[in-house]
Amino acid sequence: MAVKHFLQFSDFTLDEHQYLFRRTAELKRRWKAGELYRPLLGKVLTMIFEKNSTRTRVAFEAGMAQLGGHALFLSNSDSQLGRGEPIEDVSRVVSRMTDIVMVRTFEQRIVERFASVSKVPVINALTNEFHPCQILADIFTYIEHRGSIEGKVVAWVGDANNISYTWRQAAKLFNFQLRAATPKGYMFKDVDGATYDDKHFVQLHDPREAVAGADIVTTDVCVSMGFERESLQRKVDFEPYEVTAELMSLARKDALFMHCLPAHRGEEVSAEVLDGPQSVVWDEAENRMHTQKALMEYLLLGQVND
Ligand code: CP
Ligand code: NVA
Repeated sequence: MAVKHFLQFSDFTLDEHQYLFRRTAELKRRWKAGELYRPLLGKVLTMIFEKNSTRTRVAFEAGMAQLGGHALFLSNSDSQLGRGEPIEDVSRVVSRMTDIVMVRTFEQRIVERFASVSKVPVINALTNEFHPCQILADIFTYIEHRGSIEGKVVAWVGDANNISYTWRQAAKLFNFQLRAATPKGYMFKDVDGATYDDKHFVQLHDPREAVAGADIVTTDVCVSMGFERESLQRKVDFEPYEVTAELMSLARKDALFMHCLPAHRGEEVSAEVLDGPQSVVWDEAENRMHTQKALMEYLLLGQVND
């Protein structure tokens, strides 16, 4: 049987995602209750980071330890990847010795090449195009606070990037609408060959139009990792796209503010919003660990009922 990977949100069916959310709630409950649950005893996760990370690394490493397994960290500066070893060769070697792999890298094509020769499940831990682990945690966080996301409106204010492209895939799968406001030179592109109708995705430019009546307002840095050379121009182009309390007030009264973090107060979001009562950013961050535990358990053991 083919090895199952999680390289983009659309790799899993609606049923699989719903199972993951149920399982996440159960694993989170057990962890909060202090219960030891170690189904992955003896299993090893390899974590390959070609870009920086705080949340993703901590969530995977702590999560794997809690499930009884071990996680090991490889970066460009301390592995042969940094000296040009082909990604397929790294995959062949790593997947002979360890049980599951997560990869944070540049183009989506790189993680796809890694997975194409891997004997074990591969998880996309962020590429230029997608960040499926983040949106898994974000939707779980919405469900915890407000219930089902079906039929809701998510306002995206800012760059068309890995986070927003994954929100767009999620909108189609979960049947909600992503209303995105980006500057004219930074519009959404085709990154996955999928088609999106107005019911699921609307490209706008005016942040006020996107946020009006929304259930979630979300944004991200205007300079993603790998795009640092464009920093100066981007900071100018994205200035009108800061999520302020005034902008937030156009959303529904019970709207949530989300951000994958790290955030830049006074750039893409004001401190008042990020640290304010509608913000659930710390829950999102913690839920990275709970959702990724459910994901690793699923990829290694399939659906578990105990
Ligand atoms: N949100 C997120 O992926 O954070 P890190 O870059 O710190 O892992
Ligand atoms: N869009 C950001 C997300 C960081 C978690 C980046 O790719 O740098």
